[in-house]
Amino acid sequence: MRVKANHNNMKPMVKSKKVKKRILTGDRPTGPLHIGHYVGSLENRVKLQHEYDCFFIVADYQILTDHLKETEKTEYFIKEVLLDWLSIGLDPGKSTFFIQSQIPEIAELTMYFSMMVTLARLQRNPTVKEEFKASRLPAMSYGFLGYPISQAADILIVRSDLVPVGDDNLPHVEQTREIARTFNRTFRSVFPIPEPLVGEVSRLPGLNGQKMSKSMDNAIYLKDTPEEVRQKVGMAITDPARIKANDKGHPDICNIYRYHLAFNNTEAEDIEKRCRQGKIGCVACKKRIAENINAFLDPIRVKRAFFEARPSIIKEALRAGIERTLKESRETISLVREAMHFNYKDLLDGKKIMAR
Ligand code: TRP
Repeated sequence: MRVKANHNNMKPMVKSKKVKKRILTGDRPTGPLHIGHYVGSLENRVKLQHEYDCFFIVADYQILTDHLKETEKTEYFIKEVLLDWLSIGLDPGKSTFFIQSQIPEIAELTMYFSMMVTLARLQRNPTVKEEFKASRLPAMSYGFLGYPISQAADILIVRSDLVPVGDDNLPHVEQTREIARTFNRTFRSVFPIPEPLVGEVSRLPGLNGQKMSKSMDNAIYLKDTPEEVRQKVGMAITDPARIKANDKGHPDICNIYRYHLAFNNTEAEDIEKRCRQGKIGCVACKKRIAENINAFLDPIRVKRAFFEARPSIIKEALRAGIERTLKESRETISLVREAMHFNYKDLLDGKKIMAR
């Protein structure tokens, strides 16, 4: 760390490249992102990018688990994810955006890591089990079962310190920590033990009360029009015990109330009271939250239109992001190979192989 005099106010100014802790997180490109992604993870990222060295991954390998036969749509979905990121305020000038499959070192690291995880450990991962059930696939592939290992490689290839995720991804971060410890113990300390970071509202229910997801068709997307939002909210399931508007409601079991907490926090307490007393009906309550969600989405829609009209911004963000991630990944892989005695200095001209 170098300390330099700052001539403006004479306080010492710390100048160092590695002061900022590193973050890696990202999304699967299965379609546009929804407000559940926003409260569970995206919102957090926007704040974090000011304080941390952030890497954001579009995890295209990961869609092969349950979308193997729809890969022709992947490029379009990647673009959608990038538009969502830019429109909520992730800034490629501050953070590094990249696509998983463009970093071959991730596949290499996945290979090494796969030898450090038992089958039984993978089979215990509750998120993998849930996702498999939701996929309705007849059988689980080796890659589906093992995708948390490839996620560990995503995180550790840039030696990330922190991983902001929704609570469904916590088992993967736990597995990543175990892998990092196993590697460090078996070979040499190469990896930090990354910490998970969960957003304020860790999970927003879908319109039908189940987990919000594209496959359930119960999501409000960041790119939905105001009319789509009104319609979707209008059809949402609320408190099933409530039939007439003046029946007493139960906000604690109502999805729409959860939306009020996330998007209309200042009024939520009042709405809760009135709902319990039967003084606000579901129709009025839904109208109110649809307005709030639309007010929240309006500036995002404006930004989205801006970036949609300027595709070169996405291209440049990816070019620069992939270049930087490759540089970091090559560094990590050379440390890994060295630690594992995999650089065969006597047999090969090690330098040339490394330089690739
Ligand atoms: N599994 C994450 C999701 O469901 C996506 C993802 C892939 C990810 N690689 C990651 C998240 C690394 C955090 C860190 O959306």
